Order: sequence, then structure tokens, then C-alpha cells
Amino acid sequence: MKQVTLKIENISKIFKDYKGNEVRAVDNITFDIKPGEFVTLLGPSGCGKTTTLRMIAGFEKPTNGRILINDVNVVEIPPWKRDTAMVFQSYGLFPHMNVGDNVAYGLKMRKLPKEEIQRRVSEILRIVGLEGFENRPPSSLSGGQQQRIALARALVVEPSVLLFDEPLSNLDVLLREQMRVEIKRIQKEVGITAVYVTHDRTEALTLSDKIVLMKGGKIEQIGSAEDVYERPMNRFVAEFMGKINFVPVEVVEILRDETIVKLKNRTYKIPSLPTAHSDSYVLGCRPEAMRITADGPIDGKIKTIVYMGNFSEYYVDTEYGEIMIKVNPPFDKALSEGKNVKVDIVSEIVKVIPDRE
Ligand SMILES: Nc1ncnc2c1ncn2[C@@H]1O[C@H](COP(=O)(O)OP(=O)(O)OP(=O)(O)O)[C@@H](O)[C@H]1O
Ligand SMILES: [Mg+2]
Repeated sequence: MKQVTLKIENISKIFKDYKGNEVRAVDNITFDIKPGEFVTLLGPSGCGKTTTLRMIAGFEKPTNGRILINDVNVVEIPPWKRDTAMVFQSYGLFPHMNVGDNVAYGLKMRKLPKEEIQRRVSEILRIVGLEGFENRPPSSLSGGQQQRIALARALVVEPSVLLFDEPLSNLDVLLREQMRVEIKRIQKEVGITAVYVTHDRTEALTLSDKIVLMKGGKIEQIGSAEDVYERPMNRFVAEFMGKINFVPVEVVEILRDETIVKLKNRTYKIPSLPTAHSDSYVLGCRPEAMRITADGPIDGKIKTIVYMGNFSEYYVDTEYGEIMIKVNPPFDKALSEGKNVKVDIVSEIVKVIPDRE
């Protein structure tokens, strides 16, 4: 497999809306992708993910900036000469061709010898787990199987970069989970550099070597799944990656590898540094990083308890707004809805986060 690096340098895209006003869909973003790396563009609807992907594919021309594939600026190169392949949400299979012909399409266009086409189609169908499906019409396949064919069709031409735009959103939940694992396995087996667009954080967390989290055309944070989940640089990232509670604190002292903070009149030693520098901070507390305890500094009242089987979610009204606490069994029967409680943080696993969006 080709070893390809991809560099996105100061890329912007400005569209004109129907009134002629400028829409800054992508606003001066920079990131790079190592050979064989699986990078996910993650973010809310309209943040510029698809536009970024389409610029990499060549379907959209950047207003500014450079896109380098192996250090060659491809901005002026048309899509079909770029050596990228795209897998779409709607599989885009040709309904009148059987599976084999669908997969062979790109190779036939390149006028490869018949035997080689045959060999490569069989090989790629084996990799996506659909050996022997050559003669079936696409309509006789399940959604997941069709998505695998779309993936096979993209991979068979041996592109340098594989691009995915929300490829799993048309599948039901169970199939989506299976295909997630499959995509990861196939990408690693083939060793291809991949850029994957999704707004689903679970997909991003499970698939990615690197996550590029976007908002309003800009990059909020780049990092591994652990980085963005456990060490968010601001409140937006922290919230986007999962349920989290924010508790305002005063940072008393930042030491070499720990932070002393004050919450009301109580001092805590947090065994990590603030995730980024700021003038004011909050504690980012995942639901598992808070507990109900007799001497906690935060006063609250249990509003709702949601039983989840192996744990329960306690929603507690406090002076800092509603706080969600994950409680593990055995459950204390005395802690019922409407009860006044005190809440504490689990200082070992909270993070000191800049108090900004
Ligand atoms: N051709 C276009 N003309 C005008 N505006 C556009 C065009 N394409 C995209 N936009 C705008 O650019 C912004 C980013 O769009 P984009 O499709 O990249 O978002 P996205 O992150 O992929 O969102 P989603 O998760 O909903 O697919 C949006 O505000 C969108 O309305
Ligand atoms: Mg999109």
C-alpha cells in the first residue's frame, strides 16, 4: 500500500448563500495526517466537515490554503487525478450492474487486463467479507453488505487516501456497530490513509487514531480519542464528547504535575494540570466523577433517578445547575427523588478546564 501523508494548510472555504452573503464554511484550518492514519473530522451539523472532505477529494476548491498529498499541492488538480476515493452515506452502487461489475468499474475505466481485474475484485471482496458475491444484484443485499461493496469499490483502485462521509448513518444501530469494527479492520489490513466524517462521537472515539473536532468552520481540538475525551481544552469539547458537569473553582496553585483548587471553602489536590491556560477555570466532572456523600460541599436536591440496570443516573438540582451523577449498585434506598443531598467531586478523575466555550 502507498505510504501517503496528507497536509491541510490554512484552508478556508467561503460560499455565497442565496442572498449573496458570505458563508465561512471552513475558516483557516490546519492539520496533518500520517501514512496509514485514520483521522476523523467530528463536530455538530454545519461545522464544515463535509466541505473539508470535499476539498480534499477535489469536488470543492478552497478559497485559501493548500492541500498537500505527499508534499504536492493538489488544489489545482481535478478529483479524478487526485488518487483519492470516497465512500458516501448513500452507497451509490449502480443498480443495473451485479456486485462484481460494480466493484470492477474503476478498474475497467482504467483499462486494466481482464485477468487482473478478476483477481483484484476477488481479493477485495474477500477482504470486505463478501467472497463469492460477484453475480448478485446489489438490490439483493442488506444495507451493511451494500456499504461493504461501496467500500470495496473505493478500495479496489488502490487510492492513496480513502475518504468517508458519514458512511454508516443509513444503517440500523446494531449493523452500525458491526460495520464500525469492519471498517477499522479493513482500513488497518489495507494500511490506507483515511479521513472519516461523522457527527457521532462514539464512532469517532472507536475508529480514530486522531480526532479533529470542529465548530463553526474552525478546529477546537486535535488529538487522540483519549486526549479529546479526557483532556478537553474547553467546555465545548468537553460537552461534545459526552455528558459532563461543570463546577466553578478557583485555581490556587499550579504545581509540576498537580493543581490545587478551591471549591467553596474546601481545597482539593487535582492530580493533573489544567487542560489549557486561562484566566478562570471550571472543574470538568464526568457523571462518574461525582458522588453523593454526607459531607460534600455542594448542596442539592435529587430531582430524578433513572435506573439503567448496571448503574443509575441521579439528576440533582444544585446551585451550579443540574448535575448528573452516575451511581453504582448497591443503591441506597434512602436516596429517593425529592431528597436533599450533598454532592462531592472525585478529585482523582476530574479535570481543570478553562472556563470558556
Ligand atoms: N454549496 C454551498 N453553498 C452555500 N453554503 C454552503 C454550501 N455547502 C455548504 N454550505 C454551508 O457551509 C457550512 C458547512 O457545511 P458542511 O456541509 O461542510 O457541514 P457539515 O459539518 O458536513 O454538516 P452536517 O453534519 O450537517 O453534514 C454550512 O453552514 C452550510 O450551510
Ligand atoms: Mg456533512
